[in-house]
Amino acid sequence: MTFSPTISASLKTPLTDHARITVPLICGAMYPCSNPELVAAVSAAGGIGIVQPISLTYVHGHDFRAGLRLIRSITPNPIGMNALIEASSRTYHDRMVKWVDVAIEEGVRFFVTSLGNPRWVAEKAHAVGGVVYHDVTERKWAMKGRDGGVDGLIAVNRRAGGHAGPKTAEALLDELGDLGLPLVCAGGIGDEADLVEALRMGYAGVQMGTRFIATPECRASDAYKAAILRADEDDIVLSERITGVPVAVIKTPYIEKMGLSAGPISRWLLQHRRTKHYMRSMYALRSLWQLKRASLDTSDAAKEYWQAGKSVSGIHSIAPAGDIVRRFASAVTAPTPE
Ligand SMILES: Cc1cc2nc3c(=O)[nH]c(=O)nc-3n(C[C@H](O)[C@H](O)[C@H](O)COP(=O)(O)O)c2cc1C
Repeated sequence: MTFSPTISASLKTPLTDHARITVPLICGAMYPCSNPELVAAVSAAGGIGIVQPISLTYVHGHDFRAGLRLIRSITPNPIGMNALIEASSRTYHDRMVKWVDVAIEEGVRFFVTSLGNPRWVAEKAHAVGGVVYHDVTERKWAMKGRDGGVDGLIAVNRRAGGHAGPKTAEALLDELGDLGLPLVCAGGIGDEADLVEALRMGYAGVQMGTRFIATPECRASDAYKAAILRADEDDIVLSERITGVPVAVIKTPYIEKMGLSAGPISRWLLQHRRTKHYMRSMYALRSLWQLKRASLDTSDAAKEYWQAGKSVSGIHSIAPAGDIVRRFASAVTAPTPE
């Protein structure tokens, strides 16, 4: 076998240009697993860590601005912020607007939006030379994001942790490829070969979550990390019981006991025009508490709400977040067999 350095893939993509980073790899926002040390470690190694504001404040106990400054004290490299922009609660929306303003004041220039219309975030980001990438699971939402002025799309596929989409990475590339925006692959990236493959397919980068939980920097409990190492992709199931919409979790005895669907009454209330906003808020508040407890606390083993995606199949060790980023980068630039 011969090796030709000239045909190795490049780390430079529209994502690295937009985010001003050197490795086309995003450590996605994770409620409740995004803690400042994890975000900083990914950015310090050349990728970009995304701050999840509720995780930073409610789970990890930082004032939002102080949390951003803590990350800044670890690395001067770019970091991003996740703005969940669903407008079902006025209070929540107002809080999110304040968080975006503080992030901009603190120098954040990369935003990842999810749900809703990202226009107001795009306007604020563009005014200071920043960019917005929008999480989408299908074309309908991608068009809404494009019309809202976003600079890139994060295509969340059916292997993703968190709220997985219904489609494969290949199908999303086909479906969104003509929209004229860089596409980032989210879901199922567990090892270096997955990143190389995503770039080869035409993605401008990857957004990873689950892989970064199995790191020393992530403050999730050892039991949660061990469950990720043990799990295979068949152990990942979609449960509606946590947030009212399907979330990817590891199948534990507790999850099996609870069942996966929301139940007929909750489901009806979630769909009904008058009650759906109330039900969503109720689920959101309850899930914030349950997920926080399950990720940090090992004392109540009966409540194992451990979110993870099918990328668990490629995750076999706890490794420092920076090492993961560097290993993935080397795999992209390594000489390819001819
Ligand atoms: C534990 C966990 C929590 C997550 N929380 C959020 C979140 O709060 N906001 C968000 O936009 N995405 C969230 N995600 C999705 C990730 O940002 C990312 O898109 C996804 O993890 C990629 O799939 P992977 O886990 O297979 O790498 C979460 C994912 C996980 C695993």
